[in-house]
Amino acid sequence: MTADIIDGKALAADLRARIGAQVAAMRSTHGIVPGLAVVLVGDDPASAVYVRSKARATAEAGMQGFEHRLPADTPQETLLALVGRLNDDPAVNGILVQLPLPPHVDETAVINAIAPEKDVDGFTVLNAGRLATGQRAMVPCTPLGCLMLLRDRLGSLAGLDALVIGRSNIVGRPMAQLLLANDATVTVAHSRTRELPALCRRADIVVAAVGRPRFVQGDWIKPGATVIDVGINRTDAGLVGDVDFDAARRVAGAITPVPGGVGPMTIACLLANTLTAAARVNR
Ligand code: GUN
Repeated sequence: MTADIIDGKALAADLRARIGAQVAAMRSTHGIVPGLAVVLVGDDPASAVYVRSKARATAEAGMQGFEHRLPADTPQETLLALVGRLNDDPAVNGILVQLPLPPHVDETAVINAIAPEKDVDGFTVLNAGRLATGQRAMVPCTPLGCLMLLRDRLGSLAGLDALVIGRSNIVGRPMAQLLLANDATVTVAHSRTRELPALCRRADIVVAAVGRPRFVQGDWIKPGATVIDVGINRTDAGLVGDVDFDAARRVAGAITPVPGGVGPMTIACLLANTLTAAARVNR
């Protein structure tokens, strides 16, 4: 058996086209243009790449982008003051502070300074708590994109065994909450988990978000399972995911490639969250 390749690029292009049409309608009927502010501190090369693609996608969707690039030694107070101004700026519907922040900055303090209704990353404690308690929330973009890929492939997830590998606040934890909200039976594995291969072999859905190149082996995959690979690891052999793609695709029913799987969905979901934020303010 050879797995179907889940085409995240195509699904993301669809979603972006639909968002673009809604942005155009908002502009022509209400004269409103959704605005997204992106804050980048320091010069982490990977972050710079992400921020550039976010800026491009924002413009292509017809939204207004506000980019704030600050030096790595920016004091925390300056950053908090900037977030405060963005909170108060009616042209800004979404605020994204690119992580990681430099070590002298308290990341949690900065993130939680973002107004919850503008928290398009869904990283504030309030949005995380809303998601965890089944309330309407801004949902982090990467897990939201993974969920869309899963729903597109599988329809209902009710009763399926899902394994999330990784427990980060950005991906693993919110992914587990989303799967639970979609009636999957969810296991979260992490670095201290025992018998990971055996757990994995029971899973109808595997979401790998560990940040270790080709960590998930082909013989861990249940035949026919759906495998979502969140990893983006730069290696000498180029970009690779957290899953041994060549081995896993011989066993899985469907699998996301890296690149071209989850990555494009993350950016499309950021636009979707920004549009939602703008629509809520201007209703
Ligand atoms: N760093 C890595 N992923 C993300 C993300 O989704 N949002 C932000 N703000 N920073 C990140």
